[in-house]
Amino acid sequence: MKFIHSGKVKDVYELDEKNLLFHFTDRVSAYDVPMITNIKGKGEILCNFAEFWFTYLDSKNHMVRLDAKDKMVVKKLRMIPLECVVRGYLYGSLYERYIAGNNRLDLAPNMKIASILKDPIFDPTTKSKIHDQPISEDQILAEKILTNNELKHVKDLSIRLYKQMSNISNDAGFIMADVKFEFGKDPSSNEIILADSLGPDEFRMWNKDSYKVGEEQVSYDKQYLRDWLTKIGFRDKIKNASKDGKMPIPPELPSTVVNELLKRYSYVYKKISEL
Ligand SMILES: Nc1ncnc2c1ncn2[C@@H]1O[C@H](COP(=O)(O)OP(=O)(O)O)[C@@H](O)[C@H]1O
Ligand SMILES: [Mg+2]
Repeated sequence: MKFIHSGKVKDVYELDEKNLLFHFTDRVSAYDVPMITNIKGKGEILCNFAEFWFTYLDSKNHMVRLDAKDKMVVKKLRMIPLECVVRGYLYGSLYERYIAGNNRLDLAPNMKIASILKDPIFDPTTKSKIHDQPISEDQILAEKILTNNELKHVKDLSIRLYKQMSNISNDAGFIMADVKFEFGKDPSSNEIILADSLGPDEFRMWNKDSYKVGEEQVSYDKQYLRDWLTKIGFRDKIKNASKDGKMPIPPELPSTVVNELLKRYSYVYKKISEL
């Protein structure tokens, strides 16, 4: 089996001509920076999540089978170099762009942080090794990443999938604030298929009970790690380092943070898969 790629989270192997093997590792990254501490058991939970959503969602996806608790065989695709982000709430980097006055997405004025958007929006980014950048639909067409029809399909599908995920999350007591999809083309038919993974690294999930507009939300996902990194000043270090095109050395994660993170990952999975 040929090793082909070690990503931020997954190790990818070529199983045969048509299939890849994803090994979901215990690695964790935040703000696009890989941490040096592993979250033992995270890989298995992420693999469970991916299997759950691929089974549940009604769109064609790349999953073939599970080979182990943390190993998924997927169909090899020609990946579309976009992160197809859908957002239902004003949060994260969208909120940062919004208050900075960059309102390319035509959002209503004077909204508070964590406000629900009138309709979910498609807010894609480039796929970059260093830092993903927002990309407009015009740019996607101009750079010939997708044709007009393909873009419409990918956009509609992304929003539809977000709505489905958001509904099931709602039934389990959560708000899915946003999600990131990746799609690829089947090399034989050129059909666009849902790929990569779907788990807490791909979406923001809030508890419905504690949701409050105008405030930072208690989250059951990686936001907890992001918030901790911000608190210890690491977010500023990343911002400063990235000005010089560098990456700062990440801190060792304390066991309290590791355990809390794992607890949140498993809690959401349990609630959702119990439905
Ligand atoms: N079905 C697929 N066929 C080919 N490549 C895929 C498929 N699904 C996902 N990928 C790609 O495999 C890689 C998975 O690695 P990942 O751990 O997400 O790392 P990173 O995002 O840091 O590259 C990503 O580059 C993703 O775009
Ligand atoms: Mg990835």
